[in-house]
Amino acid sequence: MGREKFASRLGFILISAGCAIGLGNVWRFPYIVGQYGGAAFVLLYLACLVLLGLPVIVMEYAVGRASQKSIALSFEQIEPKGSKWHIYKWFGMAGNYLLMMYYTTITGWLLYYFVKMIRGDFNGLDSEGVGAQFTGMLGQPEIMVGFMIAAVTIGFAICMQGLQNGVERITKYMMLALLCLMVVLAINSVVIPGGKAGLEFYLKPDFGKIREAGIGSVLFAAFGQAFFTLSIGIGAMAIFGSYIGKERRLTGEAVNVLLLDTFVAFMSGLIIFPACAAYGVEANAGPGLIFVTLPNVFNHMPLGQFWGSLFFVFMSFAALSTEVAVFQNIVSFATDLTGCSVKKACAINYPIIVLLSLPCTLGYNVLSFIQPLGAGSTVLDFEDFIVSNNLLPIGSLVYLLFCTANFGWGYQNFEKEANEGMGISFPRSSRLYVTYLCPLILMCIFVQGYIATFA
Ligand code: ALA
Repeated sequence: MGREKFASRLGFILISAGCAIGLGNVWRFPYIVGQYGGAAFVLLYLACLVLLGLPVIVMEYAVGRASQKSIALSFEQIEPKGSKWHIYKWFGMAGNYLLMMYYTTITGWLLYYFVKMIRGDFNGLDSEGVGAQFTGMLGQPEIMVGFMIAAVTIGFAICMQGLQNGVERITKYMMLALLCLMVVLAINSVVIPGGKAGLEFYLKPDFGKIREAGIGSVLFAAFGQAFFTLSIGIGAMAIFGSYIGKERRLTGEAVNVLLLDTFVAFMSGLIIFPACAAYGVEANAGPGLIFVTLPNVFNHMPLGQFWGSLFFVFMSFAALSTEVAVFQNIVSFATDLTGCSVKKACAINYPIIVLLSLPCTLGYNVLSFIQPLGAGSTVLDFEDFIVSNNLLPIGSLVYLLFCTANFGWGYQNFEKEANEGMGISFPRSSRLYVTYLCPLILMCIFVQGYIATFA
């Protein structure tokens, strides 16, 4: 039987964007922007996205499409005989599991907030009351675990339906709905009375803020955010390459995904920061930022409960679409490697993911004494640091080297695959850049990031 393909190009773009768009854009982007000084950080982030992220997505797609395999076998399929690139599959797969170890917890928060919105739990509360709801949730392990399990269950249930019936059918509509809703909410937020200071924080660069936080740490954070939001370096994007035909060049597809991803992140900032200023929420509130800000926005909107419920349901789907994409990768890893059925791979991985997600979920309550990155840090902070600032960039470096070095797949093979079909081609003039400069920049930011953060 041939490898299953996407039914439509829109399906591919939206699902691939669906893998990219998720918590990274709506949950992580605003809180990192808030912690690292606003607009000036955003500029650094955009630079990392285009200069480092874009070439790597094209490379992942190319490896996936040329090999027609998931990361389990993609390197074996196209690496030079006798080379050992395929060993990377184990690290890549570890990255997929690690990402899910905290992603499922936040997806659970979104599902819980959807239920709370419908129930009207936030109605009439002021900012303090809204904040207390969030803290209250963190302190209840049974709720946190219950909703995390719900997030894992829904993700695997969709995955089990297969690519076209499950993943493509559902994600496509939810992504379109989310994109429209984000625009409505952004318009609502930019005209909130008292929101101007928030808009300035977000849109008017103040480089003094970067100096205050330390340029090394800020750059490291921008770099981590760029890799996280694109989910590159762990084969999660490569697998979509393996499901598309040769009709379109890959650079154009990658640009579409990057634009959609950036659009959602940008909208999310437009929604959050004016609201922070208007309702007295500190922009540097950390991972809880959207949860302590957004209910205030909905409380002050006409039909707020309706918009709030829509937001949390669509957002849950955006998070679930990323989850499903990563589960798809995990499941394909098992099926490609062992030949087992999709159902069996789902049945084995389901309890594994639930168990692996527990430390993060419980890290806010019963395991809150575990503070791996120093006083006040959580298991989530630690897992996120390992994934965003380590596994994803290092994995991206592997893809960069594999696609450009003569001892890897090599630039010519990569270029031929990337430029097959119609659309934007991978610029020939960028060969020197992606072969030497890009890996060098990546390594420099990585090393100096460690020094700035820990020295
Ligand atoms: N790229 C995924 C997200 O942004 C991990 O949520």
